[in-house]
Amino acid sequence: MKHYSIAIDGPSGAGKSTLARVTAEKFGFLYVDTGAIYRTVGLSILRAGVDPKDGAAVAARLPEMRIELAHAADGLQHMYLNGEDVTEQIRTPEVSMAASAVGAHAAVRAFLMDLQRNLAKSHSVVMDGRDIGTVVLPDADVKVFLTASAQERAWRRTLELSQRGAPKPYEEVLAELERRDRDDVSRDAAPLRQAEDAVRLDNSQLTFQETVEALEQIIRERTAL
Ligand code: DC
Repeated sequence: MKHYSIAIDGPSGAGKSTLARVTAEKFGFLYVDTGAIYRTVGLSILRAGVDPKDGAAVAARLPEMRIELAHAADGLQHMYLNGEDVTEQIRTPEVSMAASAVGAHAAVRAFLMDLQRNLAKSHSVVMDGRDIGTVVLPDADVKVFLTASAQERAWRRTLELSQRGAPKPYEEVLAELERRDRDDVSRDAAPLRQAEDAVRLDNSQLTFQETVEALEQIIRERTAL
């Protein structure tokens, strides 16, 4: 049976993960959140007291790091670090920064490559990240570059944080987001960029439902689904 792969890349806060999860559910595919995988490495490095920007020190820690992922019955992706469920612990702003920093090291990206590719070999997937269409799954059936203006993304993140009971001023959220964008775009190893054959979907002016429908149409136009 053919396994389909849908790659969704884009900057943080564009709504990739919710879109990818809903789309995976609609098509009966596995949703793979690769940001969560980088976050798990970031958490491990923070716990070890290592500077996430120190490539050599980070690389030295990789052999002792066991990163696994499993999907619960409700489709939620759980992350495990050396057997411990760290799904909740990886969602802090500190871990976001650490994930972005460790993701800049080629050794980390190579370390995580097989895990990501093997999932796409064994399942139909909707995989979201920064380099899925460009590096991890260059032959993906559908590639989408999901984006929105920095202001719109920061505004959405500010709302989300306040709903989660951890409010933060908009200006601070925007500054942090722009810094992470800069880091993700300017790094040497697999920088964030749109694949040549990716469809650009800017949802600054779209509701979530409209974005879901736009993606579904893109998928149906490019596959037999
Ligand atoms: O999507 P996210 O915000 O959970 O990702 C956290 C960080 O991980 C992001 O700033 C960059 C890094 N990342 C990456 O380098 N490559 C990926 N495929 C996914 C995430």
